[in-house]
Amino acid sequence: MKIAIGCDHGGYRMKEDLKDYLQELGYSTADFGTDSEESVDYPDFGLKVAEGVARGDFPLGILICGTGIGMAIVANKVPGIRAALCTDTFMARCSREHNHANILVLGERVIGLGLARDIVKTWLETEPGGGRHQRRVEKIRAIEEGCGGGGGLV
Ligand code: RB5
Repeated sequence: MKIAIGCDHGGYRMKEDLKDYLQELGYSTADFGTDSEESVDYPDFGLKVAEGVARGDFPLGILICGTGIGMAIVANKVPGIRAALCTDTFMARCSREHNHANILVLGERVIGLGLARDIVKTWLETEPGGGRHQRRVEKIRAIEEGCGGGGGLV
């Protein structure tokens, strides 16, 4: 599986570490930058990864900035994207199982590299849940399409 990955300067070191780790786990990556710790604007990089996932070029993506907040805001503006900012493995597991997150967002200034690796592994190994989880994700999709989800917010 090929995973889209991107960051700003605040997430550069974590991106580089996670690329090595993903390779160890048997995944390949498409790196959308940035390529150094020189200051850049996170929306530019978040958008590239989010569009790649939304188009179906990649099944999943990973975005990293200083806090993870900016990248999550950007990615969730792109229709079809469910980006989840995770700070522990419980959130990582639930974001896949419950929310069918297709982009994992991390904050390099918030968590360490070791925890980031555990979060990534957990996230990639968790399958999307069916039943009520599927139904709720369908409602998110309906909201996104401007249909109101057939009964208001859930
Ligand atoms: C960059 O200083 C920082 O604002 C960015 O990496 C991120 O934390 C934004 O949400």
